[in-house]
This record gives sequence, structure tokens and C-alpha cells, in this order.
Amino acid sequence: MQSQTTWHHLSSDWINWADRLAPAAEKINRHLIEAADLDGLARLRGGAPLDVLDLASGVGEPAFSFARVLGGNAATADDVSANTPGLSGHVTASDIVPEMCDGLAARAADEGIGNISVIPADMEKLPFSDQSFDVVSCRFGVMFCNDPDRALGESHRVLRPGGRAVYMVWAPMVDNPLFAAMDAVLGNILGIGFDKAGINPFAFGHPDQSMMRLEAAGFTGITATSHSPAGRIPEKVPFWKPQMDMLFGNVLRRASDMDRGAIDAAMFETLSPYIEDGHFQVPICFHVLSGKRA
Ligand SMILES: C[S@@+](CC[C@H](N)C(=O)[O-])C[C@H]1O[C@@H](n2cnc3c(N)ncnc32)[C@H](O)[C@@H]1O
Repeated sequence: MQSQTTWHHLSSDWINWADRLAPAAEKINRHLIEAADLDGLARLRGGAPLDVLDLASGVGEPAFSFARVLGGNAATADDVSANTPGLSGHVTASDIVPEMCDGLAARAADEGIGNISVIPADMEKLPFSDQSFDVVSCRFGVMFCNDPDRALGESHRVLRPGGRAVYMVWAPMVDNPLFAAMDAVLGNILGIGFDKAGINPFAFGHPDQSMMRLEAAGFTGITATSHSPAGRIPEKVPFWKPQMDMLFGNVLRRASDMDRGAIDAAMFETLSPYIEDGHFQVPICFHVLSGKRA
């Protein structure tokens, strides 16, 4: 199973970076949480606790954010849950790679998140009964399936009527300069980019096509929103390292020190047009897709 093999070799990189990336993750997760319309679903269910299934959770995102909102345990004052004090529920987090699930469970225990459980699962063949969940979420995962349309169908199957699936997906590489730089630099120096690594983060890059895929899977009320935040990071910080490790860590581990130095120098050079006032301001662009089970 290709996706499992690729991600299996990257699980240590994901565990290594997870805690340091958590604050940034929490910020973008709010877009998924808003798209899930937890308030509306809670009303529909008469205030009963909500069941959320997070697919391809890696080591915890956005499963932890949903669990905090449903546990009345928001991380920040401006968290979306500040407006939704009555929400409650449980999150089932899942991933095809058991080591990712182990990392997630350890992090959840460390953080004292009680309303979460972890079940290894292939999102193309979910081990859950029909109509078991109110929300299915997936951040940067569906594009990595061997058969994403089958995965969309499985999400639809396990949703209860009125339930909603929400997906965060990358916009095309041209709108994501960090990924474009990584692809070019690693291609030049190590002879391996996304194509050769067998990773295609951009398969859901065009919202119109992606919305048609959700429709074909049976969803109604489909929406897509685009987001382009830009960080502000001091130019001395090699901010590309986390993403590069988490996507190419298995390749980088085999690279020489000289190649690794050349990669960092080339990444700085390629991204230097985005330096303003001594800070990198490199935009990222992603879409949030949502669809309802009638
Ligand atoms: C880019 S990571 C995203 C992880 C997490 N959702 C996040 O945003 O931090 C992609 C994840 O998809 C998982 N994955 C790939 N194919 C899968 C499948 N068919 N079923 C479930 N998980 C899968 C990988 O193991 C990996 O953890």
C-alpha cells in the first residue's frame, strides 16, 4: 500500500515537529471547525453530544482542535469555541499509519485531552458502521489516498443524515511558494521532488473540480472557501525545515551534510524575494471544502 509505506517512514518527523507546530495548526484549524457548523449540528441533534471522526489525523491535527471545542476546553481566547459554550462531544481520530496513531495517543495523554479516542483506519475502507458520526473532518489527507473518490464515498456513508464532511486541501503549487521552492531545490540537489517521492499534495487544488467530486460522492450543500495567510518569520529562521522534514524526511536522512547545507542555502535564495523588513512573509494557500449528507 503506497501511501502507508511513504507516511510510515515519516511518522518520526511528524512526532518530532508536532508540538512546535501546534499553535500555527490551531489557527488554521478554525476554518475547518467553522465549516463544520457545530452549532447548527448541535441544534439539529437537540443539544446531544456530537460525534466527530477525523481522518488521516497524523499526530493530531485537527482532531485536537475539535476535541478542545467539544470539551469546552478552548486553547485560546479567540478560539471559535468562545461563541459556542454549549457544545459537547467526542472525537475519533484515525490514520492509516499505526505509528502516527501511537504518537497522537501519546500527545493527547500529555495534553490531558479526554474526549478523544484513536483508531487506525484507512479512509478508503472505514471500519465504522453506516451513519455513525455527525462530522467527518480531514486536514491535508484526502489527496494522498490511492482512490480519493472512494474515500469521499466512505465519509458520506458513515455520516448521519444532516451531518457534514469538511476537508482542508492545498491549492495548486503555483499558489504555494514554499512547496514550489522545495520541489525545485530538492529536485536540483537530490534529484527528487513531489513526483518522484510519490506525493501529490495538489490533487484537490482546483475547487470547482473538487466540488464535483464531493457531489459525485453524494454530498449536497457543497461549499468551498479559499484562504491565503502569510506568516512573519525572522529571515534568520529556516522556516522551511518542518514541512521539508515531514514530507521528505526519509530522503533527507540519507543526504550528505554537504547536500543538506546546499539545500538550506538554495531554499533561502529561492524564497528571498519574500523577505520584507528582515522577515520572510511567504503566503500559503489552501481551500476548505464542505458537503452535507442529506
Ligand atoms: C499531510 S499528513 C496530514 C496529517 C494531519 N491531518 C495534519 O494535517 O497535520 C497526511 C496523513 O494522511 C495519512 N494517510 C495517507 N493515506 C491515508 C489513507 N488512505 N487513510 C488514512 N490516512 C491516510 C498519512 O499517514 C498522514 O498521516
